[in-house]
Amino acid sequence: MFNMNMSRFTYPIWGIFILTSVGLSNCRYDNYYDLYSNPNTCDTSAVTFSQDIKMIIGQNCEGCHNGAIANGGLNLVGHQNISTSALSGAIMDRTTRSLGDPLLMPPGQPLSDCDQSKLRTWINEGAPNN
Ligand code: HEC
Repeated sequence: MFNMNMSRFTYPIWGIFILTSVGLSNCRYDNYYDLYSNPNTCDTSAVTFSQDIKMIIGQNCEGCHNGAIANGGLNLVGHQNISTSALSGAIMDRTTRSLGDPLLMPPGQPLSDCDQSKLRTWINEGAPNN
């Protein structure tokens, strides 16, 4: 009788303990990558439109902002369109909003820190067609 009562309490406690351990170890792994890996692999020393920006916008924005489907009236295909929107401040404004902000671009799926840094670098240089 005593043993049965004990196991009804101890098994759930072990379950919680194991799930918590797994959860915590996942967090530590993520933090390690955020803190130590990204800065080393993000090179913003020579950002160009043709090598970096075109691909970032192409992969993350063009599906919803092109000649045929221009959400918000915005076409982001080609240097002319992208640089106009970039220099107006609209691209940095919308891509650096916090998660959960309905105006964040791309909606609900922020760009990586590295892509944001590359965009910022290129725009600070005047958004050239290089
Ligand atoms: C899944 C579709 C989708 C993707 C992907 C997307 N957008 Fe948008 N975007 C929208 C919609 C819908 C609107 C209009 C509603 C609004 O203003 O939030 C919009 C509006 C905007 C506006 C405001 C336009 C204006 O003048 O009012 C900007 C700037 C913008 N997006 C930039 C971007 C950038 C930069 C990316 C990529 C990093 C991107 N969007 C990716 C759907 C998308």
